[in-house]
Amino acid sequence: MCGIVAYVGEKKATPILIDGLKRLEYRGYDSAGIAVFGKEKIECEKKKGRIRVLEDSLSVDYPEGNAGIAHTRWATHGAPSDLNAHPHWDCNKKILIVHNGIIENYIDLRKKLKKAGHAFNTETDTEILAHLIEEHLKNEKSLFEAVRKALNEVHGTYGIAVMSEEHPGEIIGAKNGSPLIIGIGDDEHFIASDVSALLPYTRRVVYPRDGEIIRITKDAFEVRSIKSKEEATSKVEKVEWSSDMATKKGYPHFMLKEIFEQPLVIRNAIAGRIIPEEGLAHLGGLNYTVKELLQVDRIMICAMGTAYYAGLVGKYMIEELLGIPVDIENASEFRYKRIILGKNTMSFVISQSGETADTIAALREIKRKGHRVLGVSNVAGSTIARDTDGGIFVHAGPEIGVASTKAFVAQIAVLVLFAVKMGRHRDMTVEQGKEITEALVKIPAQIESILEKSDEIKKIAEKYKDVEDFLYMGRKFNFPIALEGALKLKEISYIHAEGYPAGEMKHGPIALIDKTFPALFVAPKDSVYDKTINNIQEIKAREGDVLAIGSESDTELPKMVEDFIAVPETIEVLEPLLTVIPLQLLSYHLAVLRECDVDKPRNLAKSVTVE
Ligand code: M6R
Repeated sequence: MCGIVAYVGEKKATPILIDGLKRLEYRGYDSAGIAVFGKEKIECEKKKGRIRVLEDSLSVDYPEGNAGIAHTRWATHGAPSDLNAHPHWDCNKKILIVHNGIIENYIDLRKKLKKAGHAFNTETDTEILAHLIEEHLKNEKSLFEAVRKALNEVHGTYGIAVMSEEHPGEIIGAKNGSPLIIGIGDDEHFIASDVSALLPYTRRVVYPRDGEIIRITKDAFEVRSIKSKEEATSKVEKVEWSSDMATKKGYPHFMLKEIFEQPLVIRNAIAGRIIPEEGLAHLGGLNYTVKELLQVDRIMICAMGTAYYAGLVGKYMIEELLGIPVDIENASEFRYKRIILGKNTMSFVISQSGETADTIAALREIKRKGHRVLGVSNVAGSTIARDTDGGIFVHAGPEIGVASTKAFVAQIAVLVLFAVKMGRHRDMTVEQGKEITEALVKIPAQIESILEKSDEIKKIAEKYKDVEDFLYMGRKFNFPIALEGALKLKEISYIHAEGYPAGEMKHGPIALIDKTFPALFVAPKDSVYDKTINNIQEIKAREGDVLAIGSESDTELPKMVEDFIAVPETIEVLEPLLTVIPLQLLSYHLAVLRECDVDKPRNLAKSVTVE
């Protein structure tokens, strides 16, 4: 939520900052702004709307200075407008700041600063920071110290970049609860919310920790504690992702590219992690001894959104394969309730970005109670990747589309590996381990065959493009898929969709069904197929249209329903990896047909870094 980029070096800052913003646009896109050192002063430009609106508004004589900061916004305090867009400044327009996060005590600070004579122009919480730094600069020569002292008065979350006209050639950053990294180039340094902004310029980065303040100049960077000013240890790390991975590669949208990447994504997620002859999975990063794995008597998974639904698939799968009870918790609820974890409970957090505020808070709460937490994450260097005690990287590559697709299948694939590993240390036989891993290895090719049906699914989408509601249903392993399919549909096409366990239908949702309210069933030929067919018949008896996702070998279901999309057969536990694909394509095509902005749906941002 909100993207920040800052540059100091020898090159012209403006093109680097605008390019960085475009690469971060998925983090927020309701307004954007930039501030660059000109010949005599800092020039700031900010606009409501997308980054291209800002870019178009930059005059030909916009400064060509070598240092600047920029921001793309997802509004929290204050509606999207030119005025509320970042950067924000102090009374004299000499100190400029961009911010991602929420300053929780901004009302008190604002009152205090107003009393001291500061005048405010915006409705944002961020503006108080500029004035607070201005106040400290009255007694401080160093911008670094003024920012540090100001931050010691602040409660809340922030990733910031600050520049001052009186302090050319340096930019101060700081981080607490919001993502921020330092990029190291040759005679240049960067600050950014995440690595995607920096990939064309450098792959050498430092990941500051919460509570740390940064100073970058052309030649150097330093990281210190905000509280004590003590120098922090900072390791330069190499980013594995390439710049090319974060481009559309000829696809019209990132989401479509990411849907089509899924066969490769699963191959990467499982690569080197299966020992075929032993029906075994190898996961080096769990940091649990076999003895400890054997002691686990309960598993708790905590996540948000699509990652939560991947966790729900994990629950069904682990309970079925291991006989260990699994709780799946919504992190935003979990963090505020009484946490009851046994000493042999194994805790997981799942997060594509590794920066979701609620999931991080849940992780910290579990750790505070003295328990270990494992992470399932896609982003090396993210807060979750660093703050967990071990875990599994999904290796899906950068996911840019706001609607999560490839991360979901990668998360499920690694949970399968986890279940096999745990199972094989327990009572899972070699045969069963082999059956699962062999079926998993076949999944990428099976997904490829579903992707070939994209045009067929588009034709189905054309029939449904004007509906305003949809009921998605499935049972057992496909109940989470109904939830995930409904989430995909609502978030990018704005069609109201609800996901339900099919068995719940008669307890209320069926009242909604009429000719204008279609139902989608995920009904492959598995252990609950007959039960789901009964539900389909009940919808048909009430004149509802049905679109079904079913097995290729099913000759009966296509005759019962208006529309049918066939998926190849696999073992029941792996069905979600296949049944979700047509649902992703269906929502994609519906969104395009309804002329929605697929990669940047309204009101959303890729990574929810505020509560
Ligand atoms: O980065 P995370 O996996 O922690 O993100 C969790 C959710 O915010 C995310 O899955 C969200 O629901 C997506 N927009 C779904 O497509």
